[in-house]
Amino acid sequence: MTIESNGYQTGFGNEFASEAIAGTLPQGRNSPQVVAHGLYAEQISGTAFTAPRHQNRRSWLYRIRPAAMHGPFALFEQPRFHNDFETGPVTPDQLRWNPLPLADAPTDFIEGLVTMAGNGGPSAGAGIGIHMYAANRDMQGRFFYDADGELLIVPQQGRLHIETELGVLDVEPQEIALIPRGIRFRVALPDGEARGYVCENFGAFMRLPDLGPIGSNGLANPRDFLSPNAAYEDVDGEFELIAKFEGHLWRADIGHSPLDVVAWHGNHAPCKYDLRSFNTIGSISFDHPDPSIFLVLTSPSDTPGVGNMDFVIFPPRVLVAQDTFRPPWFHRNIASEFMGLVHGAYDAKADGFAPGGCSLHNCMTGHGPDAATFDKASAADTSKPDYIGGTMAFMFESRHVIRPTRQALDAAHRQRDYQACWAGLRKRFVAPHE
Ligand SMILES: [Fe+2]
Repeated sequence: MTIESNGYQTGFGNEFASEAIAGTLPQGRNSPQVVAHGLYAEQISGTAFTAPRHQNRRSWLYRIRPAAMHGPFALFEQPRFHNDFETGPVTPDQLRWNPLPLADAPTDFIEGLVTMAGNGGPSAGAGIGIHMYAANRDMQGRFFYDADGELLIVPQQGRLHIETELGVLDVEPQEIALIPRGIRFRVALPDGEARGYVCENFGAFMRLPDLGPIGSNGLANPRDFLSPNAAYEDVDGEFELIAKFEGHLWRADIGHSPLDVVAWHGNHAPCKYDLRSFNTIGSISFDHPDPSIFLVLTSPSDTPGVGNMDFVIFPPRVLVAQDTFRPPWFHRNIASEFMGLVHGAYDAKADGFAPGGCSLHNCMTGHGPDAATFDKASAADTSKPDYIGGTMAFMFESRHVIRPTRQALDAAHRQRDYQACWAGLRKRFVAPHE
């Protein structure tokens, strides 16, 4: 049982409109007394009704049955996927993990989610949950929605066929998917096996950053974001609807597929984006700018210029700045950084950071290139350009400390010797003789 993609519409946060059956969308008056083809009209709002117009998100869905139709919810156990970010002391250590082991028992996308870290929560309306997934089978007879936040999905291995109420997203590694809060979906795995990262954003929805002096083009361009055209199924049966609500999973019986939206219009819509479309900005003289130049999407907080969550990538690029140390320098930031690697190698680490792995450097925790990378970059000939190819690393960055979960700290794949990567940085200081 699969819904095929019906193609895409381009733009980010546009007022999209799509109908799988021509003549379904009402013309003129928005909410007619009788909807075409015997469908029900239903609105889903992603922002407060009174949010400023340029931030307002909602969509109108014209569907076979309203979303209200399902049985009562009961708590549903998937103990590895939660928002319990521990309330006690949190270590300021640098932390790093090997790739999340792939699933061996039959595991679908929901069963395969493992919460690594996070902060805030759905009731606070701020913060993020950081999860990883490893799955090896399609979601069967099961649909999911997250009432707690929007989901930024970063596949690392294996494609995802994401069937949503508003249409289908086919997403492969080096692409991302953004599923708005509340949108119901089902995930199939065309390659049989899949692994990746998920950022659950409890704060303001992610948007494209302002570009300031960069101008009207650059970084992630709106035209490269794709939202699905309407695609639906009309299927009755015994299915289950899984909801994530206030940090817990709930399950209800549902007698039909909720992927029954024949037409929709609005801007509360899923989308996908190919990270290889990112227009990377960098120095063409000396030194290197702050990594904010790699910002793809940002969830703003209530403090101007400070992100609840920033999604940053380190894509292939040419480094030409001269007389400088080209990899990221040693640093400590007020922001906390969770990093993952989708593809290839990351230029600030010689080894130990593999695709499917992750690291966490929290507020004011020192980090940077390992000893081998430092030696290599210090001796590099910067009169020649350096092409950093075949790589795609990313960062979920937050103004709030990112608290690792107990299961992440205890995981067998955590690198308990991570700090040793800096141990070879010998003392180089030589005091000048008087
Ligand atoms: Fe960093």
